[in-house]
Amino acid sequence: MSECFLVTGGTGYIGSHVCALLLAAGRDVVILDDLSNSSADVPERLESISGRKPLFYCGDVRDAARLAEIVSAHKPEYVLHFAGLKAVGESGRNPLAYYDVNVGGTITLLRVLQRYGIRRFVFSSSATVYAPDAVMPLTEESPLGPYNPYGRTKYTVERVLLDLAAGDPSWRVALLRYFNPVGAHASGLLGEKPQGEPNNLMPRLCAAAAGATPPLTVFGTDYPTRDGSGVRDYLHVTDLALGHLRAVERLEQAAGVHTYNLGTGTGLSVLELIAAFQAAVGIAAPWTACPRRAGDLAEYYSSPAKAERELGWKAEKTAEDMCRDAWAFYLKAGCARNPDGESK
Ligand code: NAD
Ligand code: UD1
Repeated sequence: MSECFLVTGGTGYIGSHVCALLLAAGRDVVILDDLSNSSADVPERLESISGRKPLFYCGDVRDAARLAEIVSAHKPEYVLHFAGLKAVGESGRNPLAYYDVNVGGTITLLRVLQRYGIRRFVFSSSATVYAPDAVMPLTEESPLGPYNPYGRTKYTVERVLLDLAAGDPSWRVALLRYFNPVGAHASGLLGEKPQGEPNNLMPRLCAAAAGATPPLTVFGTDYPTRDGSGVRDYLHVTDLALGHLRAVERLEQAAGVHTYNLGTGTGLSVLELIAAFQAAVGIAAPWTACPRRAGDLAEYYSSPAKAERELGWKAEKTAEDMCRDAWAFYLKAGCARNPDGESK
């Protein structure tokens, strides 16, 4: 692997875990992040984890001049592009912002990279690019058909990258379709800490278990699933981060565009996750059955076989690991209090 990695969105949840691994592996890491959904102290935390500090630039991925300044100064060999907006509900209310940041921001970045001859790119895509009626498990060949604006921005960027590589075969691109990342870094220093109210299950489960919020609302107990609650493919964020390193190694070997599902291949229901949480941390999180959440699917989970075959990557951590680490991060940094113990 080569020397310098530019990581957009590198102070965010997934990007910070990837930076921790890159730094520990001796790589130079340059982060660009506008801190719209992350904290300015993440670079210091990365230093306390790995003993090496990334270079940090606060900036917007849509700012071509800022990008050119960073890219020309550091000439990264690889760009890992995490920066973006990710709330499905918000994407319906404000689609222009989602297209602007997720699609416009990526195109601005790609133009700058092209200008400086940088053509190795790893993109954070999502399982939401698949069609809602696709048969489970989802393989990379399953029909595509995103059904919300957020998913359509991811699909659009995938298309842009495919077209770019078709026109210039020197591009090496990994499209990584994440399933449901949860959990936190073993140090308790990195985790999912959204700026606003969390929408996702795990942060809400932790808050309900802590008694910081009313009981967890289980959205739908009448789905055609094992126990009636929604089924997802949760994977530990550290496993997900490792998948990026394997993808970079793959790009060393092979030009073109390579698409991989990153999931465990096992679906877990909301009620099963609540049970795993109890087994892991010894707290029975209170919950209450609620109507289905608009836009949710009954179940989806991956076939990660291609990633295992071509990348030698396989998610190793269990649901209990995910819950234990998410809870440790919540206690240290969680939604009620920031990492310094100061009220938000
Ligand atoms: P996150 O919000 O924690 O991280 C994204 C980072 O990008 C944040 O630090 C934010 O401040 C930064 N950012 C946002 N807009 C920016 C801009 N215009 N310029 C520069 N920085 C900007 O999210 P995450 O969970 O770490 O997700 C990372 C990527 O993975 C996103 O592209 C997301 O769409 C994708 N993804 C996430 C999930 C998930 O469940 N978390 C699932 C599938 C795909
Ligand atoms: C959503 C997005 C996905 C995005 C991911 C992470 C959709 C269809 N998908 O996934 O694109 O990548 O968030 O941002 O919106 N649940 C409860 N109670 C809660 C919260 C969630 O029961 O308080 C249930 C949901 O109904 C679902 C499961 O928990 O069955 C997981 O929900 P969530 O963590 O929000 O992720 P997804 O909806 O799968």
